[in-house]
Amino acid sequence: MTWTLARRAERLEPSAIREILKLAERPGVISLAGGLPAAEGFPVEAVRDATARVLAETPREALQYAASEGFGPLREWVAGHLRAQGLGVEAGQVLITTGSQQGLDLVGKVLLDAGSTVAVETPTYLGALQAFAPCEPRWLALDDDGAGPRPQAMAAARGARFAYLLPTFQNPSGRCLDAARRHALADAALDAGVAIVEDDPYGALWFDDPPPPPLAARAGDGAVYLGSFSKVLAPGLRVGWLVAPKRLFPKLLQAKQAADLHTPGFNQRIVHALVAGGLLDTHLPALRRRYRERRDAMHAALARHLPSGCRWTPPRGGMFFWVELPAGLDAASLLPRAVDAGVAFVPGAPFFCETPQPNTMRLSFATVAPDRLEQGVATLAAIVRDAVATTADTPRGVAPPPQMPALG
Ligand SMILES: Cc1ncc(COP(=O)(O)O)c(C=O)c1O
Repeated sequence: MTWTLARRAERLEPSAIREILKLAERPGVISLAGGLPAAEGFPVEAVRDATARVLAETPREALQYAASEGFGPLREWVAGHLRAQGLGVEAGQVLITTGSQQGLDLVGKVLLDAGSTVAVETPTYLGALQAFAPCEPRWLALDDDGAGPRPQAMAAARGARFAYLLPTFQNPSGRCLDAARRHALADAALDAGVAIVEDDPYGALWFDDPPPPPLAARAGDGAVYLGSFSKVLAPGLRVGWLVAPKRLFPKLLQAKQAADLHTPGFNQRIVHALVAGGLLDTHLPALRRRYRERRDAMHAALARHLPSGCRWTPPRGGMFFWVELPAGLDAASLLPRAVDAGVAFVPGAPFFCETPQPNTMRLSFATVAPDRLEQGVATLAAIVRDAVATTADTPRGVAPPPQMPALG
């Protein structure tokens, strides 16, 4: 039998990161690669208690098919939580999703035709590029001055179906836009008639000060806002949410129905029991402490070990450092040597929709204890130093031998 693939399937590609994670699973490898939360921080006992309570109090409702919109009390909780952050949200605008990854998929299905323009940051979240790519969009890289996309770039994006933005502890760069840039961007997007899709799974994971209010707080009906319980509770629950303008909500709901009817009601009730019971009041400060300590350890190790010419900015929240190596180095070509030496990372190139910057890498500190972070960064830095020396020794005009096939 010859199976003829749909054009959208041709656009589906293996995730470069998932391929790298397979390498990182080798015994003894210190993985700075995954975007996973620290498993030792999962609130296991609280989940056990909440599960028992759900099964004791509403076993049949929890195990039955449920509403596509999501579990009412959880939608109310999300709306109340967002109102406390200055967003004018009603529960009727909250759609519970199977992780925020599903929210991205639904947004793409509802808003994109083949050839539609999506404006993105460079770099941007690889999973969003993957979610939107089957809709065959045209990417538009927003002009950026280092402090974020330039507000003027929104005028250049006029006609785009939406701008996909991650202003808070971005994956992969860890960057957090300040309040002034957020205001200017949201206003410029409204002026240009460009809708905003704001992805914010890391906002609660701040280490120094809380981030400024989301773009959606200013853009109102001009924004879809996505969030998740994956990073604050556990990704295995697969519970996220999106907030949509009232006019758009019914279409997203219909796409949700077509995709999976509803997010598991059992999981939603467990999440609701946890958050409504006040777990986050104690859990979040503990999580922030753990990640702050790891952020500090990685920052110190990078400063101690990386050669001059490498650049990074310590993130003020989230899970990632974004490191720029000296120009001319290709992070992907260093990965096999790094894994052989016992450390894994994610090369930066897959996070660019066009013109990748090969001398970049994403390092996650979330799952590694401080002493192992020191060891992992020292190992990685030795490989970078070696590559810097080799590049300096390479005669001009002679390309170094390829080290590794293309990722993914
Ligand atoms: C920026 C961003 N958006 C969305 C997701 C998807 O998260 P989930 O589907 O677990 O809610 C991730 C996961 O790492 C992410 O980093």
